[in-house]
Amino acid sequence: MEYVENVNRLFAGGAPDVTKKARASARRFLNEQLLAHFAGEEQHIFPALLDADLGKKVVQRIADLRKDHKQFVKQINKLDKLIAGPVGPALRKALTGFSVRLQKHAAKENELFPSLI
Ligand SMILES: [Fe+2]
Repeated sequence: MEYVENVNRLFAGGAPDVTKKARASARRFLNEQLLAHFAGEEQHIFPALLDADLGKKVVQRIADLRKDHKQFVKQINKLDKLIAGPVGPALRKALTGFSVRLQKHAAKENELFPSLI
């Protein structure tokens, strides 16, 4: 639950400077690091796995992961607007929910990526 712990840590404080840093960090993570991570998987890793012809299970898992990515992109757009607003229970709940879904997504990828070896 590393993502959830980071979200809770970032938005736990109420001091304006901490909140400003937490907002910038969360936005950077969502809009830069995470989207770049998705793009790298979509453009390089998934095609390499499909080219390796590893079977129907791998094809289905990649389709599932791509579906997750599309949903995450929509959620990131919503979160970005929430992050710009007041820090409170709604933002923390949204970020925690996103983090839990992202953690589950990462677990699915961890099961898939050993097939590259
Ligand atoms: Fe992914």
